[in-house]
Amino acid sequence: MKAAVFREVNKPMEVEEIEVSKPGPREVLVRTAAAGVCHSDMHFFNGTYPGRLPVVLGHESAGIVEQVGSDVNYVKPGDHVITCLSVFCGHCEDCLTGHMSLCQEPEVRRGHDEEPRLSHGGAMMNQFANLGSFAEQMLVHEHAIVKVREDMPLDRAALIGCGVTTGVGAVIHTAAVEPGATVAVIGLGGVGLSCVNGAAIAGASRIIAVDMVASKLELARKFGATDVVDASAGDPVGQVMEMTGGGVHYSFEAIGLKVTTEQAFQMLRRGGTATVIGMIPPGQMVSLHGPDFLMEKTIQGSMMGSNRFRVDMPRFVDFYLQGKLHLDDMISSRIKLEDVTDALLALESGEVARNVIMFE
Ligand SMILES: NC(=O)c1ccc[n+]([C@@H]2O[C@H](COP(=O)([O-])OP(=O)(O)OC[C@H]3O[C@@H](n4cnc5c(N)ncnc54)[C@H](O)[C@@H]3O)[C@@H](O)[C@H]2O)c1
Ligand SMILES: [Zn+2]
Ligand SMILES: [Zn+2]
Repeated sequence: MKAAVFREVNKPMEVEEIEVSKPGPREVLVRTAAAGVCHSDMHFFNGTYPGRLPVVLGHESAGIVEQVGSDVNYVKPGDHVITCLSVFCGHCEDCLTGHMSLCQEPEVRRGHDEEPRLSHGGAMMNQFANLGSFAEQMLVHEHAIVKVREDMPLDRAALIGCGVTTGVGAVIHTAAVEPGATVAVIGLGGVGLSCVNGAAIAGASRIIAVDMVASKLELARKFGATDVVDASAGDPVGQVMEMTGGGVHYSFEAIGLKVTTEQAFQMLRRGGTATVIGMIPPGQMVSLHGPDFLMEKTIQGSMMGSNRFRVDMPRFVDFYLQGKLHLDDMISSRIKLEDVTDALLALESGEVARNVIMFE
């Protein structure tokens, strides 16, 4: 099968012919229909986060089941599925206490003594996030997929695989924003726009969208932003404080920077909660003003929107089909696998919401 292979940091990925193994007892082979290009792929491509190479990147996808392992009865060939990197074992402490997105059990991967899922000329090829979506096929654990209704277009379904689940989930699960609350979202890529959309679904009274790119501020209004702040025009904290008369109840950082994480905390009102979604580079520290804790301000992280994706994703599909999730507006362009490196580099400009790779 064809896959875009990442062999060296910052070097364009070539589409190569690689081998995919047969499904093990609990594995499923999925034919990829569409894959979104998320900034998390970029953090590995540009070396900000270290990873094992060579690797097939990509982790936001949807497709059709092609083959199932002997013990799989959850899906059958022909079923439409969305993938999720939050592969859960189902019996560890994290899973059993409802924190499936934190599951780290190795049993959902193949062991080092087993034949790898992907290879090239007999050499091991890594699978990013246990998925490897920048490829025609994905061989995954059965707990890495959720079945969805077949009237859901697969390109928009792909977006739910990461960005939407992360952004909406951060709002409704991690932060549990309640109706009437005020919200600020810093960074309006696929993840931040999903936070804005999630805040609208949650019934936030005011949704302040913050970005440095004018087109993003406009786009955010389609997702439910009631106010916008241009961070390129100066410190956004003062503007948010002024607009809200003392800060928001909930803020979300959806970029992955120290400075915007600090801003997210600074723009909270008394008792407010900042949720950090962005991947801050390893080794970087974040500074907070100590006395702010006396005002009962909270800061927390969010991993994949604290999802229970087998429950959440079919609901998000319904939200889209009911017109509540604006996924049509999220797709900036549909591209070919060959153009994946350009799509990653395009994220640097901030102009892109999501580029989606379409497979034949
Ligand atoms: N925690 C998780 O589980 C999880 C899941 C998915 C993605 N992520 C991370 O979330 C972040 C966002 O992902 P994305 O794909 O939406 O990214 P993106 O590149 O598409 O969007 C980032 C946005 O931030 C804006 N921006 C950049 N610097 C800014 C600044 N100083 N002030 C205001 N706006 C600024 C850009 O213009 C752009 O609109 C990334 O760090 C990604 O790795 C985390
Ligand atoms: Zn992602
Ligand atoms: Zn588990």
